[in-house]
Amino acid sequence: MLSSNIARDERGVVRFAGHSVDALAERYGTPLYLMDEERIRANCRMYKNAFLAGFGDDTGVLYAGKAAAFKEIYRIMAQEGIGVDAVSVGELYTALSVGYPAERIYYHGDAKTDEDIRYALDHGVGCFVVDNETDLAALSAQTQARGMRQKVLLRITPGIDPHTYEAVNTGTVDVKFGVPIQTGQAEALVRAALSADGIDVAGLHCHVGSEVFDEDVFERSSDVMVEFMAFLHAKYGFTARELDLGGGYGVRYVDSDPAADIPARIAGVAAHLRARIKETGLPMPRVLMEPGRSIVADAGMTVYTVSTVKHIPGFKNYVIVDGGMADNPRYILYDARYTVLHGQREGGTDTFDLVGRCCESGDVLQPAVELPADVRRGDLVCVCTTGAYNYSMASNYNRLGRPPVVMLSPDGARVVVRRETAEDLCALDL
Ligand code: LLP
Repeated sequence: MLSSNIARDERGVVRFAGHSVDALAERYGTPLYLMDEERIRANCRMYKNAFLAGFGDDTGVLYAGKAAAFKEIYRIMAQEGIGVDAVSVGELYTALSVGYPAERIYYHGDAKTDEDIRYALDHGVGCFVVDNETDLAALSAQTQARGMRQKVLLRITPGIDPHTYEAVNTGTVDVKFGVPIQTGQAEALVRAALSADGIDVAGLHCHVGSEVFDEDVFERSSDVMVEFMAFLHAKYGFTARELDLGGGYGVRYVDSDPAADIPARIAGVAAHLRARIKETGLPMPRVLMEPGRSIVADAGMTVYTVSTVKHIPGFKNYVIVDGGMADNPRYILYDARYTVLHGQREGGTDTFDLVGRCCESGDVLQPAVELPADVRRGDLVCVCTTGAYNYSMASNYNRLGRPPVVMLSPDGARVVVRRETAEDLCALDL
């Protein structure tokens, strides 16, 4: 199986995190997002241990909430002692509402509004990641008015192409995030921040992309950032106390994807960074990373019920399920690949496009999947590795309620986000 938390029970039914999916579907209905609590916690600990071994400090791991943000995730992150990267008032509110400590939150965004900034300052968010000079001025105006100094990191675009990453590149010079070194804008932002009132520049941030499989991406971005740090030290006497390398380690969606050995990668980045910092004579900064996908993706699975099987002889076979692009838009957005399993049996396969119930032909969850040829209405279909960027990117297209999130643990199963009802969908309508 793709991941050690996926198996089949003695009846051949898919078992996820030790729970058979037919019983879960019966109890909670479908479509259904499942999350494996032990896997989330194991991934957190994997990062913390790797940081401890590599950097001698495990406080630099920040969970990127955009991958999956709901109250229970932040409770888990608080319990695991993981920091948080937040990008909106909604994410901040969710984290703070369960008592997640504000000082451990890094607040990102290339388009923070004055209200966003006010909310984050009111609640004592630990660090802002400042994207550009306008963002800096907006923050500085408010910190000055409050007579306070806010810790910030400055988002720098290192000019790195993360390759293999198909969908969202954030490292090259021309992206919308941060300011590039190459054009002189990064230096200008640092200069402005160092002289801005109410701003404490703790260091630098970069993030080159998501689903990074290139072995040396973090080494390459470290090289660029360390060189820039040395330049800033020589020219402005500025010493970065923190260096945030962003998120991005990839995960396995299908068997042919490589398995990234994240602890080994982090050990490599740590050794590389130490050596480069030593060459500059600068003190070693506190290093941070912001993993999202690699903490929650393989802790997720989505279970659907087949509504219809449609054969168009000589053309195509469809399995149409009770969810679709509204709960998982990643194939239509990124051509994302997924492993799809029949929930109750294997073998005797035929090829089907797994599609959803939304009113457009583009509503494809995954093309050309192998499922038993006799798949029929009422059967369960499981899409694996849906813990990241599925619930968080779900929409109400076609006025569909979003599925519930059920957290699985060895002790049992519990609803952590309930199913959205038709009434919920009208809650904001006047
Ligand atoms: N830090 C920053 C500044 C980011 O922009 C991101 C992701 C992360 C950390 C976390 O990256 P991760 O470890 O999850 O790769 N919706 C897309 C992914 C967008 C990623 C955006 N930024 C998807 O479904 O693949």
